[in-house]
Amino acid sequence: MSLIFGRRTSSGLLPSHSRRNNEKNDKFFFITKVAAVFVVSAVAIFYFVAKPTYTETSDVSIDIVDFGATAQVQPGNSKADSALAFDKDEEILNSIEDETINQVNDLVAADTPKPEPLEGMKYGAVRLPSGRAVNFVGSVCVGRAELAYVFDTEVEAAHMKDCCFGNAGTKHCTAVEIGLCQSMQTKIRQYASKPGRDIQFWTKKEVEQKKLRVLPGLTLWANTVTDNEQIGHLINKDLLFFNLHNDVEHMPKIDYFVFPKMAAPQGPHAVQFTETILGEMWEKNTFWGDQIQRKKDFPDHMVCFERAVEGEVLHDETVFDNMAQGDQFRQFAVENLGAKHFGEGCPPLDAVVLRRTEGTGLRSILNYDVIDRVFKRNGINSYKNVTVAGADDTTAHVNVFSNFGLMVASHSSQLKNLIFSAKNSIVIETKGTEVGYMDPSPFQEGVDEPLGIIYKVSNGHKPDYTSCPEDHGCTKLKKYKVDYWLDEEVFEADLLKVLEIRRERCGEL
Ligand SMILES: *[C@@H]1O[C@H](CO)[C@@H](O)[C@H](O)[C@H]1NC(C)=O
Repeated sequence: MSLIFGRRTSSGLLPSHSRRNNEKNDKFFFITKVAAVFVVSAVAIFYFVAKPTYTETSDVSIDIVDFGATAQVQPGNSKADSALAFDKDEEILNSIEDETINQVNDLVAADTPKPEPLEGMKYGAVRLPSGRAVNFVGSVCVGRAELAYVFDTEVEAAHMKDCCFGNAGTKHCTAVEIGLCQSMQTKIRQYASKPGRDIQFWTKKEVEQKKLRVLPGLTLWANTVTDNEQIGHLINKDLLFFNLHNDVEHMPKIDYFVFPKMAAPQGPHAVQFTETILGEMWEKNTFWGDQIQRKKDFPDHMVCFERAVEGEVLHDETVFDNMAQGDQFRQFAVENLGAKHFGEGCPPLDAVVLRRTEGTGLRSILNYDVIDRVFKRNGINSYKNVTVAGADDTTAHVNVFSNFGLMVASHSSQLKNLIFSAKNSIVIETKGTEVGYMDPSPFQEGVDEPLGIIYKVSNGHKPDYTSCPEDHGCTKLKKYKVDYWLDEEVFEADLLKVLEIRRERCGEL
């Protein structure tokens, strides 16, 4: 099974299982510890943080994982589906019948001689100490609407199909592949669910015949759910790159950055932010969905990667995994993006209301008098209306987001710009959705603890259904794009909660 999940050599079962039941089959089982051996100097770390350039970096060497390692990955604090899959490995494995094990081994044994492992890295999945799980995959080709996994042999392709589509589900995976199967399954279904998109399993020979461009080395495969410029998704992916790259102790150098779907950014903030984060990668080694289709070098509008790393599938809204990453980004943003140098204290309680002026649904608050009254009752005597737009540059975004102590905002991807906000600033995201809906919010994840922002989702306000038709995505359940009337009691209760947290951290108003 050379491609998605690793080498045929690791086709054996989970170490614990093999030890328990199958001593004699040990030659099938590669038990390799998650050994990451790195030599990175403090100078290299400084270099990474200080300069937005990534190509001449360290002499990081990596010997990350063999498949057998997935089960040994420490359970972290991540909520990712892939992470959950790892945690379940043992349980699933214990339920595998010996008969199935033998079938799998027969299948593998029937396979052609094993290919040489790629230098320096084997496929698999690993959870970084930050808690983030990353999947390493091999030989994937992507176009804007297509995704193909490349296999050396028919047997491998059959094995993969069985693994991800078979009735028995993951039972037919070799044990070590389970974690990845479950997470890749999400992605595969997502592609396959659209009409006209059959998942393709190609052989290496076909790739050669089609003369597809294969990017050597390691590609960060930034799969987005959108193909339009959407600042929130873009910031998520840029920061995934930033974090993985700066986590030099644990990551190999990333050679290419590929957005298979999203077109190259156009808006000034999107361009400036991405360009600054990617440094020289931007020029040479970054490919966007629209370029993949247009570039002369890609005759069949596909690009293939020799090896790829992808972040978690479901929880890629998390911008920072921990405070160290948050601090590292703040330092970078101050030096390169004109962000403010915030101290450790608390910002003044200057209140703002963020209003959308463009995009899908303005999500307007229909009764600002509630804000006036509730604020006044709680010692906040004035507020300012603020806004940012796609035509604004990074400086404009930074200005809005680094100059408040309390922000009231509708659900909006602009809130990803909270990465520029001060520690202990308050954000209340008000929505006309049911209590508990999208709580935590995607804009809260990774800015709350890592950046020290006090974030409160305030659901339960009264939606104006006429403001957003169903064909605009506003179903009865999913109505965060509607205009809404603030519920005075709910809003005040939520304000009191965040003010209390602020009081604990910062003292009296
Ligand atoms: C903010 O904008 C709303 C909607 O236009 C308006 O009703 C309100 O008076 C404005 N508040 C301030 C302080 O300008």
